[in-house]
Amino acid sequence: MDTFCYKELSISNYQTIVSEFENNISYTSFENNFAYLDIKSTLEKTPSLNKWLADNRCVLSKAAIIVSTIRSSIGAPHIDSQVNSLALNFPLSNCEYSYTAFYDPADIDRIIDEEKPNGVLYKKIIFKTAPREISRYVLDRPILLNTHVPHKIFHGHEKSRYAISFRFVDDPWHLVA
Ligand SMILES: [Fe+2]
Repeated sequence: MDTFCYKELSISNYQTIVSEFENNISYTSFENNFAYLDIKSTLEKTPSLNKWLADNRCVLSKAAIIVSTIRSSIGAPHIDSQVNSLALNFPLSNCEYSYTAFYDPADIDRIIDEEKPNGVLYKKIIFKTAPREISRYVLDRPILLNTHVPHKIFHGHEKSRYAISFRFVDDPWHLVA
């Protein structure tokens, strides 16, 4: 079976959603490269996002701004620790300097729950062989991705990369088909 890595989504009111984020949502404090947004107040400030979610039978469970830096790009591929698989990401700034690569899950030997020195839990992948890249994208449009396929962001620019990431109560596989 094919491994689903990502799909570009065609979102008709996408530019309006991004404008609402740029104009109405403030984010300052990042913890481990994530700034989690309050769902209720975020939805109140982004009517276009509300409309898209309702039109597409999606219920938001998390919204966050992700910052990537040269330093955060160091390290092995990972899978996200969330229970659900799919994430919808939008570019905010400097995403053109980076790409996200996916690696063949068939090469996974085992996955170990580990804790970083700062206490953050993450899933460490032990590969049977050197991880083989199977796909990659540049986040220059809305991308629905499978966070349970081993992946890694490569960002080599001094300017930090900012992206919006949405997670859902139920994975919207109907948007993949
Ligand atoms: Fe990830």
